[in-house]
Amino acid sequence: MRTHGEYVIYCKSMIKPIPVNSFHLKGNEKKYINDCIDSGWISGEGQYIEKFENQFSQYVGRDFGIAVANGSAALDIAVLATEIGPGDEVIIPTFTIISPALSIVKAGATPVLVDSDPITWNMDVTQVEAKITSKTRAIIAVHIYGLPVEMEPLLQLAKKYHLKIIEDAAEMQGQTYNEKNCGSFGDISTFSFYANKLITTGEGGMIVCDDPAIAKRCKKLRNLAFEPEGPRFIHHEMGFNYRMTNMQAALGLAQLEQVNTSIDKKHSIGKYYDQHLHFLLQHKYQLPLPETSYAHNIYWIYGVVAPDEQEKQQIVTHLKDHKIGTRPFFWCMHEQPVFKKLNLFHGQKYPTAEKMARCGFYIPSGLGLTDDELEVVAKTFRDFYE
Ligand SMILES: Cc1ncc(COP(=O)(O)O)c(C=O)c1O
Repeated sequence: MRTHGEYVIYCKSMIKPIPVNSFHLKGNEKKYINDCIDSGWISGEGQYIEKFENQFSQYVGRDFGIAVANGSAALDIAVLATEIGPGDEVIIPTFTIISPALSIVKAGATPVLVDSDPITWNMDVTQVEAKITSKTRAIIAVHIYGLPVEMEPLLQLAKKYHLKIIEDAAEMQGQTYNEKNCGSFGDISTFSFYANKLITTGEGGMIVCDDPAIAKRCKKLRNLAFEPEGPRFIHHEMGFNYRMTNMQAALGLAQLEQVNTSIDKKHSIGKYYDQHLHFLLQHKYQLPLPETSYAHNIYWIYGVVAPDEQEKQQIVTHLKDHKIGTRPFFWCMHEQPVFKKLNLFHGQKYPTAEKMARCGFYIPSGLGLTDDELEVVAKTFRDFYE
């Protein structure tokens, strides 16, 4: 016979885990991938790449799309295609994934950091102008977690100081700012199609722009800087192999066909949690802002900020004990060991972003999440506080 403790462990072992991310591949994905296999076009050339580039850029409202290996690769290329190099400064939020900062540093330029807005979790655009110097070349406008960063003030600063805007819309397929698609604002804009995005290709990314010369340059950098017209294997500059495969693009095309359903699903997940986790506000949590004057939250992920680090640890452990996956929020750029080693951001402090990084985490919010799973997540939070 089992002891009570053993019985509890036994019951827990029967619970089906609820992963923090789950995807939805229920359309033409298999059909298109089979087509790649049957036709023999499986690597970095093929009709699906062209179709996906054309249809995705059209969807965003841009003239050109350049499909690449992932969202970080898209940023590497965007930074180089913007002619950013040694001696230049580029403004980014400190609260972001590391990719934009890495792209800047790899280009030999210096990232300049800005704190976050405590309500939207995006870069506080009111703090940007004070960071502009004679060396500033660009701003990377990173959209974070579900609400876009306020583009209008950034576009005005760019105009006033002759700066370029790189728009990192990695998380923002289907999101709009003032009813215009995210990804349509930057001189160059980038997307990620990692498995947790609204459109996934497993791994993948896209650069979009309107300038044919920039598009041509991005294509060249993506393909080891082969000269498009020149003799093969003679290279005049350094490039990357950041090509997307035809099979990834086949996935992407099938996913693009379902994007409206994916947007609706994200909204319904967000609405459910807004309603059923509302009680967390009494426990001094912060929940995502459902809307601003310029956008409805698309809830790419559903993040919450606990009142302090200890409480975050306790609730995350409780959720983990019930097999519910969570992820911590991004860790600030000025606190990254890799950048400390490079002597970057010495002594800098960004209190809002630091609090978010320490106390924030996100909960299951993937497109494959079922109604039952949503209920279990909300109930597990409630049980902790009752
Ligand atoms: C804002 C942002 N930029 C860039 C990336 C990098 O994309 P990838 O993981 O495809 O390299 C991500 C990834 O989620 C992201 O959230």
